[in-house]
Amino acid sequence: MTVDEEEQSQFQPTQILNGSQDSDNELLDEATPWGSLEHTSDSSLYPISYEFVEDSYLFGRGKKSSIVLPDASVSSSHLKVYREGSTAKVIDVGSSNGTWVNNKKLVKNVPLVLKNDDVIALVKQNPQLLNEENAKGKTVVENWYEMKFKRMMPSDDSRPLCSEMEAKYKVFEELGKGTYATVYRLVNIISQEEFAVKIIEKRQFLLNNPSVWEEQINEANILSKLQHPGIISLQDIYKTDEAIFLVLELVRGGELFNRLVDNGAYTEEKAKKLLVNILEAVVYLHDQDIVHRDLKPENILLSSTSSDVEIKLADFGVAKEEKGGRATVCGSMSYIAPEVLDRKDSIKGAGRYGKTADIWSLGVITYVVLTCTPPFAENDTRPIKIKMEELHLKREWKNLSVLTQDFVSSLLTVDAKNRYTARQALNHSWLKQAKNLPDMPGAAVYNSKKRKQEMITENSLNKKFRTNVRIEH
Ligand SMILES: Nc1ncnc2c1ncn2[C@@H]1O[C@H](COP(=O)(O)OP(=O)(O)O)[C@@H](O)[C@H]1O
Ligand SMILES: [Mg+2]
Repeated sequence: MTVDEEEQSQFQPTQILNGSQDSDNELLDEATPWGSLEHTSDSSLYPISYEFVEDSYLFGRGKKSSIVLPDASVSSSHLKVYREGSTAKVIDVGSSNGTWVNNKKLVKNVPLVLKNDDVIALVKQNPQLLNEENAKGKTVVENWYEMKFKRMMPSDDSRPLCSEMEAKYKVFEELGKGTYATVYRLVNIISQEEFAVKIIEKRQFLLNNPSVWEEQINEANILSKLQHPGIISLQDIYKTDEAIFLVLELVRGGELFNRLVDNGAYTEEKAKKLLVNILEAVVYLHDQDIVHRDLKPENILLSSTSSDVEIKLADFGVAKEEKGGRATVCGSMSYIAPEVLDRKDSIKGAGRYGKTADIWSLGVITYVVLTCTPPFAENDTRPIKIKMEELHLKREWKNLSVLTQDFVSSLLTVDAKNRYTARQALNHSWLKQAKNLPDMPGAAVYNSKKRKQEMITENSLNKKFRTNVRIEH
């Protein structure tokens, strides 16, 4: 047996790594793991699972490591996975060949919060970087470890579920927060199936808007009627005097908003594929006379971290069945159609709106996805001013191809009567070949690392642009 084989043989599949070997059995039984790592099928080395009980684990080639990875390309102290309270983190402690989380290289000695389903890779190069380094004549590492992290810690919130749910589900970390709701990961105790639970609490409505609370149940009514691969599905619903709990399909790729903040604008080719997927879901909705009314990148979720174009529409909190148009004004400022803004400004509040408002929002979304800048200036005190002439003078607009400009203009048509329908948008020639384009993985969009850096610097989307203000009158 070689030294490496000897080191490797210390680990049995799915062992609980409890550092204190002397602990008595009672203590061992009580130790609840807070997370685990399981090698993925892409991993070329040592398919083993680890469960974490201690607060910190060092991975490396050296004998000091709690988990020894005996490959020459692994540094003697490579990375640490640890917990701080109920937050799991990973840090590259100064490795030579690097650590990747979801295909992004960790900055050495800078910790990153680990989320459920994050994929940690050691000494793996993503294909784009691999080619670049190859071109420079550098040695390329061929072996790698790739492991998926599973969070097993309960949520910080001590009792977010109702008692009826507690018998069936366990609640885990927060996945997102919107205008009214907080969403957590949820696991069915028996089947271990994962879901998301959207919790809308009553107390936030009591002061300002008691009637809006009554309307919240509306989301469940609408979602229960819908079945489409591009729309999150509703599994179950619970209601108490204090809150509504929607058990939803778990979407793992995060918000389109965060994807844009992290990776910058989409290329036109990629944006086309994304828009086809969004439009197919919107055509489905509109065919059933349902209007979403709050389409924006925060409410469009990506199905997985490995695709930038497969989506699920979420947040039907203000969606309505359209019967001759809607009378109330809702939606988030930047994405609101002019006829809806007009209605808010008009004294009598005349005018109704419906599907056309969703299409306007899709026009804004398309522009934001392609440029990472909002099309119309907005500030905190003054409502958004829609000035098409100003938009057409922008550098970002001029950089779009003529066909793309035509597509965006067909959606951002001020007169709602002349605006495209969802089906017309889907049939626009800009989207014609989109279906046949390859679904490139995230990093492949960028021509070079330098261009990626430029795009991130140019990116004027940031957390401040999050349009969490929802206007309802
Ligand atoms: N099914 C889901 N799976 C994963 N994350 C979700 C899911 N639904 C919502 N989220 C996350 O929670 C956030 C808030 O949910 P949302 O339905 O938009 O609530 P709100 O009505 O308060 O805006 C979303 O922006 C998203 O980040
Ligand atoms: Mg939302």
